[in-house]
Amino acid sequence: MFLKLLITLFIIVIVSSYVYPKHFKRKKNKIQCNTKRVPLSVNFHFTRQCNYECGFCFHTAKTSHLSSINDAKLVLKKLANEGMKKINFAGGEPFLYPKYLEELIRFCKQELMLESVSIVSNGSKIKQTFLQRNKDYLDILAISCDSFNESTNKKIGRGTGQHVAKLCDISQWCHELGIKFKLNTVVNAYNKLEDMNDNISKIAPFRWKCFQVLILENENGGGEGTLRDAREFIITDQEFEEFIKRHSGQACIVPEPNNLMKNSYLILDEYLRFLNCTNNDKTPSESLLDVPVEKALMQAGWDQEAFIGRSGIYDWSRQPSNICGSNQAKELAW
Ligand SMILES: *[C@@H]1O[C@H](CO)[C@@H](O)[C@H](O)[C@H]1NC(C)=O
Ligand SMILES: *[C@@H]1O[C@H](CO)[C@@H](O)[C@H](O)[C@H]1NC(C)=O
Ligand SMILES: *[C@@H]1O[C@H](CO)[C@@H](O)[C@H](O)[C@H]1NC(C)=O
Ligand SMILES: *[C@@H]1O[C@H](CO)[C@@H](O)[C@H](O)[C@H]1NC(C)=O
Ligand code: SF4
Repeated sequence: MFLKLLITLFIIVIVSSYVYPKHFKRKKNKIQCNTKRVPLSVNFHFTRQCNYECGFCFHTAKTSHLSSINDAKLVLKKLANEGMKKINFAGGEPFLYPKYLEELIRFCKQELMLESVSIVSNGSKIKQTFLQRNKDYLDILAISCDSFNESTNKKIGRGTGQHVAKLCDISQWCHELGIKFKLNTVVNAYNKLEDMNDNISKIAPFRWKCFQVLILENENGGGEGTLRDAREFIITDQEFEEFIKRHSGQACIVPEPNNLMKNSYLILDEYLRFLNCTNNDKTPSESLLDVPVEKALMQAGWDQEAFIGRSGIYDWSRQPSNICGSNQAKELAW
């Protein structure tokens, strides 16, 4: 009897999924339907200023512009009204403007009530007191680190020799304050052979993102008008895969090869415009101060599918649920 019911149910499901394939498809990836683009997750590169000189930088200090705090808030509110749930503050180096940064993260959490607020930084200017004051408004802090060997860091152009020590301090502060700690690594010609397993296990980030070094013609392509030439840093897809394979024991690792990266980020620049990063370029949309979000999104050439494909949607708010980190957290006695 029960079995019969089950079989009937099964048949109904099969038949209806055939008849209403769209309905089932939509349910499966849970994201809004295809017609409307939703700026679910936005990366706000509010400054291009950075004293750092990574040889492969793909968001170079071409301007020193900083939007007024009120304009920035206006646009963030507009985006939240259109469905933004996650904001990431990036640069340049966001901690060059700590007051500005503090006001915006508080605004995003308190007024806009975004699910996730995060910052990407090189870490050098982060103070423990900033994190203590703002721990309730910050879900994730991501620090860039390409090597645990300072001489490699110097070759890459990152650092003064103190980078790794500072990184360790920050990861500990985050663990204590319940801010999720994330690590970003750009895999390039100088670190591609490094074995970082011991160091990563010790630091225990909840997520470790590994990017394949990326060339954008007008940013780091080395041509006229660019501030960087990243061509010496390039690695092959296979070299990137080998790096990932070497670290596949790290449960928190998230590889990001070039083919995934290019068009899956929604980037808001220092003039409050989206950047269209297709064709190895960055073409700005109109400013979100001037046009509706929907229109700017169309101009941005943003690929919602690619965003989902690179698992841009994940566990992104604050509850400390370390995936690869939890059991190692006790070892953080340093
Ligand atoms: C660090 O890198 C340099 C070359 O860049 C190398 O000579 C040295 O052995 C490395 N140190 C360690 C501890 O791996
Ligand atoms: C990080 O960025 C700051 C500010 O842009 C800079 O002063 C510092 O040298 C950079 N690098 C390191 C390793 O801290
Ligand atoms: C990174 O790991 C290596 C190998 O275990 C170790 O020798 C080195 O001290 C570690 N570096 C840091 C900064 O933890
Ligand atoms: C994005 O820029 C490329 C050229 O770089 C252009 O071909 C494409 O049409 C742009 N996309 C949109 C939606 O404007
Ligand atoms: S990659 Fe980031 S940290 Fe390095 S120079 Fe560019 S903006 Fe600065």
